[in-house]
Amino acid sequence: MEYIEVTGGNPLRGSIRPAAAKNSVLPLLAATLLCAQPCTLRRVPLLRDVQTSLDLLRAVGSGAAWAGQDLVTQPARQISGRVPTALAGAMRGSVFYLAPLLTRAGWAELPLPGGCRLGPRPIDIHLAGLTAMGAQVCAAAECVVLRRHGVLRGTDFALRLPSVGATLTLMLAACCAAGVTTLRGAACEPEIADTAAFLNACGAKITGAGTPVVCIRGTGGELLDGCVHTVLPDRIAAATYAAAAAIAGGRVTVTQCSPVWLAAFLDFLQGSGCEVARGENEFSITRDQDTKLRGGQELVAAAYPGLATDTAPLAAAVLLGAEGASRIYDGLFQNRFACAQGFAALGADAHSEGRLLYLGGSAKLHGATVTAPDLRGGAALVLAGLGVGDGSCVRVLDAGHIRRGYADLAGDLRRLGADCRAGRTGTEAGRQTKKL
Ligand code: EPU
Repeated sequence: MEYIEVTGGNPLRGSIRPAAAKNSVLPLLAATLLCAQPCTLRRVPLLRDVQTSLDLLRAVGSGAAWAGQDLVTQPARQISGRVPTALAGAMRGSVFYLAPLLTRAGWAELPLPGGCRLGPRPIDIHLAGLTAMGAQVCAAAECVVLRRHGVLRGTDFALRLPSVGATLTLMLAACCAAGVTTLRGAACEPEIADTAAFLNACGAKITGAGTPVVCIRGTGGELLDGCVHTVLPDRIAAATYAAAAAIAGGRVTVTQCSPVWLAAFLDFLQGSGCEVARGENEFSITRDQDTKLRGGQELVAAAYPGLATDTAPLAAAVLLGAEGASRIYDGLFQNRFACAQGFAALGADAHSEGRLLYLGGSAKLHGATVTAPDLRGGAALVLAGLGVGDGSCVRVLDAGHIRRGYADLAGDLRRLGADCRAGRTGTEAGRQTKKL
């Protein structure tokens, strides 16, 4: 089992550039199925979810190869509509294949997508939108099967809530449909505008992406071309480095990333007592190790441009040692704060009730072995370890969750000065067995 170990106490110093955003790369890889020409995605991190996506592309008859840090996809002539169960279950991002497979193969069969266990994650909006475009949906308990007879047709569709995934699904479906699709109440996250920029560079006609109303003029059944695309930087990784600086103290500059994309998180850090310097395409976080952060905060995670749900556990890690009790409410997912148990094991007064996380504040944290419950919760436990001041070590087990979204979180923090390393239990044991 993979783990990350961290011993707090060192201030962080230096600069770091976030990799390409996971939540852009995953839909973009699925979108390449709509392209008749090769596509290049620049500086893609080797995340577990990216590897799963490459396996999935190969399984349906397409493929992509690494060219240094770039990924180059090969257009496929023959596409299968079936997503293998193991790949669908390995990541939520498998849902992005519904629309491209339906477009290319005429049918799509998707065993229910996996991913972080953040509470119920239905796909009813994806399916309602695709039905409005003419798809036939048969959803069994464990698998969704879609078929189309003829080309999908453009429609005027209002999303019942601004789902990021459903907005992407419907945008992808509309690109090669017949006529104009208008999506109302669409999600506005930067990754949606980034996916639209990629599709437009491939010849799609999308306007309004990044606003609640998106219009897509379909090609009427023609595939798109290819393009070379520099993916948006990962704003959640950027927030992770900023939170690390806030917890450990020191000064960290995040480069090649607009502070606008994580403004709500940076506002939170500023309100907690960190010094935040914002430039056009970079920002710095400074905190003196001797000053206490301010707690007493009531945070609400919401859709963009609100405080991103993926940053809520990171904000919690910052508030553990801050002066005063705080509460964080997650408006998107019912079980965002499974990391509360790990925080408590480190000595924090932390517990969650439904969507609410309670933090007593002023925690004197100590080392312990804890388990990453999910991707962001796992990253938050690693960050909490930076705030342990007694020289003891925090070991976060099940760190494979963390590698779904960060290629090398331990290495990133180490390069900034943290005492942090990744390892694998069983490796030492394995070596001993070999010697015997
Ligand atoms: N929802 C429905 N029906 C749907 C779709 C969504 O009820 O058809 C609900 C969900 O259950 C949830 C809410 O709407 O309560 C928001 O879900 P959304 O569809 O916006 O999220 P997602 O597409 O499943 C993506 C990211 C998440 C990120 C959210 C919100 C990917 C692969 N995942 O999920 O990222 O938290 O948007 O920004 O893009 C992560 O990176 O760790 C992660 C979980």
